[in-house]
Amino acid sequence: MTISLILFIACSTSIIHRHTTHAYHRTPCKSSSTRRQFQFENCYAPDLNPTLPLNRASFVMSHNSATGYLNIKKTPRNSTSDVSSYANGNGWKGTITTGLLALYGKTQVGTAYDQLNDGARALDLRPKLYTNGSIGFHHGDLIDVPLSSIDLRGFIENVKLWCADNPMELVLIFHSELVHELGYDSLSSQEYTETDDGYAYYYLGIAVMKKVYDKAGVPYYPCETLSGLTVSDAMSMADLSRFGGQGYLLAVDRHDMYASFCGKANWARNQLVACYSASGNAENQQSTSLNPQTFIQCTDRKMSGQYKLKALQAYVIASANNEPSDDANELGPPTDEYWYPFHQIQGFWQVDGTSVQLGLMHGSTLLEDNRLSRVNEEMVTMAYNGEFDSVSIFSLDNVALNGLALFSVLRNACGQSTINGDDDVPPCGKALTMPLMESSRPLPIVWHVMLCLVYGTLLFVVFVMFFQAFGLRDKGPQDHRLVCNGHLV
Ligand SMILES: *[C@@H]1O[C@H](CO)[C@@H](O)[C@H](O)[C@H]1NC(C)=O
Ligand SMILES: *[C@@H]1O[C@H](CO)[C@@H](O)[C@H](O)[C@H]1NC(C)=O
Repeated sequence: MTISLILFIACSTSIIHRHTTHAYHRTPCKSSSTRRQFQFENCYAPDLNPTLPLNRASFVMSHNSATGYLNIKKTPRNSTSDVSSYANGNGWKGTITTGLLALYGKTQVGTAYDQLNDGARALDLRPKLYTNGSIGFHHGDLIDVPLSSIDLRGFIENVKLWCADNPMELVLIFHSELVHELGYDSLSSQEYTETDDGYAYYYLGIAVMKKVYDKAGVPYYPCETLSGLTVSDAMSMADLSRFGGQGYLLAVDRHDMYASFCGKANWARNQLVACYSASGNAENQQSTSLNPQTFIQCTDRKMSGQYKLKALQAYVIASANNEPSDDANELGPPTDEYWYPFHQIQGFWQVDGTSVQLGLMHGSTLLEDNRLSRVNEEMVTMAYNGEFDSVSIFSLDNVALNGLALFSVLRNACGQSTINGDDDVPPCGKALTMPLMESSRPLPIVWHVMLCLVYGTLLFVVFVMFFQAFGLRDKGPQDHRLVCNGHLV
């Protein structure tokens, strides 16, 4: 069984190797945890099928990418008491310090380059406009990413760097929830802006971002221009060589006041699944006393963890497989594919005021919840088992953990990819083995050998000591008196 599997992998890899002219190859490919997340040998994955409709092509998205630039120090030891004293208040936003909130606002680790190298092909930006014209990022009520850490220009440059290093991969930048330092009124004005075909009016925020993208040589389009395209159409639009760059990169949003997301977000308020809640059902969510005994949490992986996981699984399945609907409060793919050229599966724990309080009381962080609950691994398993009818944008927290496995499984789903055009179809879906994921990483063989050697040596030493001890005993009575400086003690 194992041997045939190995032979199969070897064969499929040789198929890839004969035609590697255009396949994606991740570099570096040194660590075994990286290599094991790919289903083909040596960190290879085939290219996206250029004839695929763009809204059927699958992209891993790093949820709120810019928070990867937040450097969070360790949880303060006394945070628990800080938080629980405010636990009954409604004004959690004002009472808990920003530093603590950041523990639940940081959804990613590492730069844009890192996230793309960890499997993301779509980046999720929440821009914030400052009065002096700077553009930074925020995560809703939770935090601002400091301008000193990253701004839009710096972010784009970092993405361009990856695109130049990986010039066959299509990368999408999505915006949503644009805010202004001084509030929404400041966004409602329009600006007269120069375009390729003359002049046009744009909302202030769009006009300012357009200038940044123009300067960086990266195309930035309104959503409707992406409707009804194939992957190859989108790649022509995204081709950076037209602007003197290299690779395929495209930024999109609705070009409205809020730079809204170009797709159905599948964020249904009354069905959200957070990692921590005060109890299992929504009615008790409002209970005033946050008693640690009644918490339901995602991190234990057994009792309440199973309950939470099932709820999240139902949520993501509904997002992909429900009857199509354009109602923002209904989960499911869109019917209007012109208005929604993409749709999203939110494969992560949602965050609300209660869940942040409860999580902090447990001394946890969003990234810790993500790791302990192994939610990314669960999402990869579902995708591998073909549980989603169709995947467009699959969004994850912490892509650094098993993001490559999701990338590999989505790219290797049947119909997604080709090798040098249509005739050459690589093995796909369950014909490939499931990626090995990071939390379940078995010890490498070298370690087993090392452990054998160490224990073997120890056993040998003990044996020799016993042997010598018995040998001494057999030599008869010894003189046990101590001699010190020539005198008998
Ligand atoms: C928490 O610890 C920090 C650093 O030791 C200290 O400055 C702060 O006053 C403490 N806060 C509380 C509420 O005890
Ligand atoms: C713009 O304003 C923000 C917030 O006040 C500040 O942090 C940033 O340094 C300013 N940028 C420039 C270029 O002055």
